[in-house]
Amino acid sequence: IGGVTIARNDVVREDDPTNNVPDSIFSKLGVQLHRRDKHPIGIIKNAIYDYFDNNYSKMFDKIEDLSPIVTTKQNFDDVLVPADHVSRSLNDTYYVDSQTVLRCHTSAHQAELLRKGHRRFLVTGDVYRRDSIDSTHYPVFHQMEGFCVFSPEDWKESGMDSTLYAAEDLKKCLEGLASHLFGAVEMRWVDTYFPFTNPSFELEIYFKDDWLEVLGCGVTEQGILKQSGLENNVAWAFGLGLERLAMVLFDIPDIRLFWSDDERFTSQFAEGDFGVKFKPFSKYPPCYKDISFWISESFTENNFCEVVRGIAGDLVEESKVRDEVESKLNVELR
Ligand code: PHE
Repeated sequence: IGGVTIARNDVVREDDPTNNVPDSIFSKLGVQLHRRDKHPIGIIKNAIYDYFDNNYSKMFDKIEDLSPIVTTKQNFDDVLVPADHVSRSLNDTYYVDSQTVLRCHTSAHQAELLRKGHRRFLVTGDVYRRDSIDSTHYPVFHQMEGFCVFSPEDWKESGMDSTLYAAEDLKKCLEGLASHLFGAVEMRWVDTYFPFTNPSFELEIYFKDDWLEVLGCGVTEQGILKQSGLENNVAWAFGLGLERLAMVLFDIPDIRLFWSDDERFTSQFAEGDFGVKFKPFSKYPPCYKDISFWISESFTENNFCEVVRGIAGDLVEESKVRDEVESKLNVELR
């Protein structure tokens, strides 16, 4: 990642009872789907970059190659996650050892980036969560974190108090982003709780007969700003799930498809194109059969196709004559 190779024994430790990283997760480290411009995750990341570049004249720094292996301090303490919060459990989070985890959100980088002097940034990366199995959950997915610090001049001239100012700015920004990505789409704001923001909100989008949560956000807790000497400032933050957004945008019915290298999936997307709709295909890989047979006036290609239809019905999608050698037809069935 970013020039650093992650070895198996960096994350899988059979001798450490705290370690719960399986090989299936190790195999995803460093894949970085968000850095592939022709992959739906990369396409949507670039579309969000465009929105921020155009509306904020490139004032947001873009960071996308931070290692997903972080300390528990980065992942939890720095963003004020309480000591007894469920997300700290071995049931919810992948632990490398008692002090080290695979980040479960890109919020793990808020504090270090503030400390390094960043004031407006977008951090994108793969995040890891132990979770149930269904079409919208996968133990690895991609998030983009947005963070924006304001100074007293910003809210003073608005006449609003600083928290309200930040909350309004945040919602306006994200509603603008949603319409940049989706045009007209049904969405709603839901009040919620995060340890690192107050007030906190979730944005849900109507997708396939249900409300789908696509991002969490809110006004940053003062405690986080104070750690970086920003006690006179106010900030907002959001964390959005790129898979969820891409599922809605491209009409992709299952989160597992993002990991497919089947060309029936990958060939449907092109760099910079976020207007395409995914065309579903069978979950099973295609199976090709080559068949050769003799033709004569009484047994033609069409006669052969009738035999195939009679036996296989519509399972055979295509029958193609490859060549004809001395009255012998070679056909490929798919
Ligand atoms: N980290 C939160 C999550 O993963 C999302 C979030 C980010 C919420 C920033 C508020 C502010 O669910």
